[in-house]
Amino acid sequence: MTPRVAVTSRLPGRAVEWLEERCRVTLNTGTQITDEDGLIAFIAAADGALTLLANPVTDRVLAACPDLRVVGNCAVGFDNIDLEAARRRGVWVTNTPDELTEATADLTWALILAVTRRLGEAERLLRGGGFRGWALDMLLGSSIQGRQLGVVGYGRIGRAVARRAAGFGMSVAYSAREELADPDPPATFMPLEELLSTSHVVSLHTPFSEANRHLIDGQRLRLMPRGAFLINTARGPLIDEAALVAVLQEGRLGGAGLDVFEHEPSIHPGLVERDDVVLLPHIGSATVETRAVMAELAAKNILAVLTGEEPPTPVVRPTDHGRQSS
Ligand code: DGY
Repeated sequence: MTPRVAVTSRLPGRAVEWLEERCRVTLNTGTQITDEDGLIAFIAAADGALTLLANPVTDRVLAACPDLRVVGNCAVGFDNIDLEAARRRGVWVTNTPDELTEATADLTWALILAVTRRLGEAERLLRGGGFRGWALDMLLGSSIQGRQLGVVGYGRIGRAVARRAAGFGMSVAYSAREELADPDPPATFMPLEELLSTSHVVSLHTPFSEANRHLIDGQRLRLMPRGAFLINTARGPLIDEAALVAVLQEGRLGGAGLDVFEHEPSIHPGLVERDDVVLLPHIGSATVETRAVMAELAAKNILAVLTGEEPPTPVVRPTDHGRQSS
């Protein structure tokens, strides 16, 4: 029987075309499915689902989709999926690592430069008609040359961000679960507290799980040196956003550059009103090329599972490849 695949969003590249060659595809061309009932209604009869971060693949959703064998998430992150439930129910989960590493590292640097050189503020001033000519003391930013970049999480994206630091004359410290024998690129290992208290720019690149919700809380934010900057292109709930607003209001930090938010798509109003914060709508991997290869990898993963092969980038490999009873 031809397998059925539910694709929860239009996709760039050839992903849908590839799936249609081997499967019966249902494509959601409407609004994003952000609730469990909507997702159940859309994928209930499918053997495979190609999902996005906005789709909540919970235990309840998995229980309501008895034929589902694979969830191919089109993202490196998978915090929208209950992995334990998938494992228990015999459903493969896959993600799209590697493909978005460079684009996300580029965007991280765009944020570092934007916030340290006050680009958002500068553009708003100019568009508002406030540019009256060059001035020696206009919109002075903070130099990053010769200073320390602290990278929290030294996986693919963290290391790609660190590689770019040499071009800007920054030294790199990293914190991770454990010290690496041979970090590439070379960087100094530091416990998180030490990294926070010695870095001029701190950039978060660790995956989110409940265990590290508010990893950066008020206490840790107050360890950062006066005038330091915090960057987040990983996941919003890593930072206690209310605490960040309070610390910014105290005038301790130089600013923050954020591409992700604690309660996305809502943004803490205390962030929106601040000039020392650069805010982006979760566009870390948003290049035409990157999004196309991400979608194509998600499709390859689904096709592999549905044709009895090992998917290229599994996150959950069910112990029992068949469906277990709910
Ligand atoms: C991911 O892939 O997890 C990003 O947040 C979106 O590209």
